[in-house]
Amino acid sequence: MSDEFKKQAADRAAEDVTSGMRLGIGTGSTAEFFVHALARRVGEGLDVIGVPTSERTAELASSLGIRLTTLDEMPQLDLTVDGADELDPQLVLIKGGGGALLREKIVAAASGQMIVIADSSKQVETLGRFPLPIEVVPFGLEATRHAILKVLDALDLPPELELRGGSDRPFKTDGGHFILDAHLQKIKQAELLADRLVAIPGVVEHGLFINLATKAYVAGTDGVKTVLP
Ligand code: A5P
Repeated sequence: MSDEFKKQAADRAAEDVTSGMRLGIGTGSTAEFFVHALARRVGEGLDVIGVPTSERTAELASSLGIRLTTLDEMPQLDLTVDGADELDPQLVLIKGGGGALLREKIVAAASGQMIVIADSSKQVETLGRFPLPIEVVPFGLEATRHAILKVLDALDLPPELELRGGSDRPFKTDGGHFILDAHLQKIKQAELLADRLVAIPGVVEHGLFINLATKAYVAGTDGVKTVLP
């Protein structure tokens, strides 16, 4: 059922795309439905160019005939469409479950608009049930972990950090970094946490997306709902 909802949200977002748009194209299972919907429209004559947020999305989009470029060639985009792991009523997001948060955030920040597509299970009152991905450089991992734990302690958040993939075979992002997943349960001060995390030298980015999403299409048993921040 959730796949059907993901597809409905993705199809709705594809309707918002018009010829001439420069698009950021997200990563994840919901974003893949969007890539398919977009490819159908391109097949019917829609003229767009896209910047993918991961190698995985790049492969899928180009295999389906969507014209792609890079952010260096096209540093300003009109619209990014991407999934999310959680979204709250103000459209603050947790992203990065698929590990593409850094490129996703760079692409979203370069876009005039960002539409989030999701099934209704992703909607929460307070973010944090989904572990917050924190992308870190491999050098000095333990020092960085220590610094993050200090931030969590200061904000009264649980000291639960897990190296994605485990220490024997840590997951590597497209940028060659590691991810520490923080099991925080309830994030009450998202902006403060975001500021403190990016101030740590070994932290590259984190999965809190604040003031980036301009609209969400959330699909569930009641159909596709539009959510505005
Ligand atoms: C990828 O890094 C993520 O930010 C995804 O956008 C997010 O995890 C949503 O993925 P699904 O659509 O697969 O749930």
